[in-house]
Amino acid sequence: MTLLLLSSINAQNRDLSDESRLEWFSDAKLGIFIHWGYYGVNGITESWSMYHKQISYEDYMAQGKEFTARNYDPEAWASLFKKAGARYAVLTTKHHDGVALWNTAWSHLNVVDKTPAKRDLVGPYVKSLRKEGLKVGLYYSLCDWSHPDYDVVFPRPDTRSDYPQKGQEQLSEWQRFVKFYKGQLRELSDLFDPDLFWFDGDWEKSGEQWRAQSLKDSLLAWNPAVIVNSRLKSYGDYRTPEQGIPVVRPEGPWEFCMTMNDNWGYFPSDKNYKPVSQIIRTFVEVVASGGNLLLNIGPRPDGSIAAEQETRLLELGDWIKKHETAIFESKAGLPYGHFYGPTLLSKDSSSIYLCLFDAPKHYIALKGIQNKVKSIKVLGAGQNLGFERNGGASWNNIPGILRIQVPDMENMDPYVTVLEVALEGPLQLYRGHGNAVELN
Ligand code: GLC
Repeated sequence: MTLLLLSSINAQNRDLSDESRLEWFSDAKLGIFIHWGYYGVNGITESWSMYHKQISYEDYMAQGKEFTARNYDPEAWASLFKKAGARYAVLTTKHHDGVALWNTAWSHLNVVDKTPAKRDLVGPYVKSLRKEGLKVGLYYSLCDWSHPDYDVVFPRPDTRSDYPQKGQEQLSEWQRFVKFYKGQLRELSDLFDPDLFWFDGDWEKSGEQWRAQSLKDSLLAWNPAVIVNSRLKSYGDYRTPEQGIPVVRPEGPWEFCMTMNDNWGYFPSDKNYKPVSQIIRTFVEVVASGGNLLLNIGPRPDGSIAAEQETRLLELGDWIKKHETAIFESKAGLPYGHFYGPTLLSKDSSSIYLCLFDAPKHYIALKGIQNKVKSIKVLGAGQNLGFERNGGASWNNIPGILRIQVPDMENMDPYVTVLEVALEGPLQLYRGHGNAVELN
């Protein structure tokens, strides 16, 4: 009886529609990506420096001796992410270099066995995020440039002693590797029960080689609510454009990941930080197109976060706080052509949020809105703006232009000003190209 009941509960859970699984994700808008690993010790490129033979495997791994996590304060991380306005974070539990940040039973190449940190670093992160009400994402690289059964393009010593699995001699190299990564993923799922698995490195093999379909099935069997990013060949739940902001609105759920300077990991010589203005504009453009921004930080090997990164998160957070009704209660905005700039729509489509990147001249124009407008105000400043409708032929359903008063200078936000246009009823858009007015 109990068994029957359990299996029917599981069946129900497994029927979670994609939409309900992805609900929190679509509402989240901002996530923090965390690239934390050995590479911060020398301040070199994560994993790729080995691949491109800029450093030998041995020297790369020697960085582990200085990966201390001495000032790792996951509660401070989580509270910073919360202040930034983020709703989730994604931590590199294992990058392409194969180093695990948790105490994995599947390899000694982990921070407990190999570094002065000598402890699991993933558990405390998970706990602190949950305490702040943030969703937990775990990044996991499928390709693994340390595993002896995984082929690599650079010289590598024999790493077999780091991989304790016994009695697998009868399996092929690839079968052993599949067992390994499935084992590690099972471990991550059992130990930390993440809300999101963020895969990477799938490009090195085919979907069949990764057993992508069966891996996705297993992940969902372990947690029917889990979300998977797109880098599991075609089995992901959402798209992940990277570094270059999409120009055309992607279809379906998506997330844009971006570095703050030009590197993912801690890279002290890279001072090319994006100004706060660019980060805020990017964030606005992404959410206005229905996506999330996954903004990256690269903590130091001791776990502390550089001031350049912290201040950017805090300033983004201040901007989001001031404009939170437009950000969190909303969805993608108007199609192109109605307004020169990004827009958002309230979930019930009865308000339009117009985002101004620059100080407008003369008036602000909004085109093709059939509804009567109740009011227009500057978000976070409270100023009510005058407006009038100009042109059009309402009796022919051609709405003309809404001409909106320019806000007073002191009500313009230093970064992006948002106007809230409250409509009578849900948005009715005019999408035509005009025609002769037959009856005057
Ligand atoms: C690329 C890089 C990887 C980085 C990731 C972040 O896939 O290979 O180093 O972690 O982008 O999205």
